[in-house]
Amino acid sequence: MNLAVTLGPLSLRSPLIAASGTVGSVVEFSDSIDYSLYGAAVAKSVSPEPWTGREPPRLAPVAGGMLNGIGIQNPGIQAWIDAFGSRLTSVPVPIWGSVVAHDIDGFAHVASVISRTDLAAIEINLSCPNLDGAPFGLDATLSKSVVEAVRSVTDLPIGAKLSPDAQPIAAVAAACAEAGADWVVVSNTAMGVGFDPVTRKPLLSGVVGGYSGDALRPISLRCVVEVARDVPGIPIIGCGGISGADHVVEYLLAGATAVAIGTAHLARPRIAKSVTKGLHRYGHTHGIARIGDLVGAYEPW
Ligand SMILES: Cc1cc2nc3c(=O)[nH]c(=O)nc-3n(C[C@H](O)[C@H](O)[C@H](O)COP(=O)(O)O)c2cc1C
Repeated sequence: MNLAVTLGPLSLRSPLIAASGTVGSVVEFSDSIDYSLYGAAVAKSVSPEPWTGREPPRLAPVAGGMLNGIGIQNPGIQAWIDAFGSRLTSVPVPIWGSVVAHDIDGFAHVASVISRTDLAAIEINLSCPNLDGAPFGLDATLSKSVVEAVRSVTDLPIGAKLSPDAQPIAAVAAACAEAGADWVVVSNTAMGVGFDPVTRKPLLSGVVGGYSGDALRPISLRCVVEVARDVPGIPIIGCGGISGADHVVEYLLAGATAVAIGTAHLARPRIAKSVTKGLHRYGHTHGIARIGDLVGAYEPW
């Protein structure tokens, strides 16, 4: 099966994308991850200034996946470029930057710095669940302003990463599309909480964190179906709970053009190999020559 897909202005050799925050700066993991199997890899979100992130505990396994409350620890965009900027073409995959900030000018600043590097595209992280205050991505008007600000400072392709907690998520996707996003990522983690009944403490120091993994899949799939139905024309990267080829097929049928793998990388950094093999097996069994033929092609009852 031909795995190449077209995502807005970009041609990707595979629909598989390494999700932000689960492969560090991308270049750091080139020994353990076979990037030649991906269409793109997204670096961890970077802010205008250094962020220390939250106090431990910041990660907790829970039923159906995990909670994380890292708080986007990162060295700030300038230190990030100093550390990794010269190595961005050393891995066999286009690397996308991911921008995050506390205000609109901050998003635009990071995006304008990224535009002068070898990063191939920009993901706008509108949906980090463990910063102070509600994620921008819960509000269509704010999301639109952020995307417009980024659009005005860069010619790179841009995608907006949405929150599964947005209601209705299609309204936020439509606002981002109108503001010039080339695609939307559906979705980031869902906001979640857990407690230890013995210590009575929250599992995360920040109490609320991001819930990712297997149990997120039906929720993100619902979000993809809604965005594909209500915002025709905006390409979608499906994300949430993907660890096998069948999950990729589910997202494509729901209307995604590409998919991002996150949490599964933590336990299985080489997961793209079995997923890619499984996709070829699926294509062979079902007589599908081009994976793009699956996009939005679910059979209604
Ligand atoms: C430890 C961890 C760190 C993450 N950091 C980021 C981040 O910096 N920026 C971002 O946009 N998403 C971040 N995410 C969210 C993932 O990119 C992904 O959208 C989410 O985990 C859902 O996919 P999954 O169920 O396959 O993990 C992070 C997720 C995890 C588990």
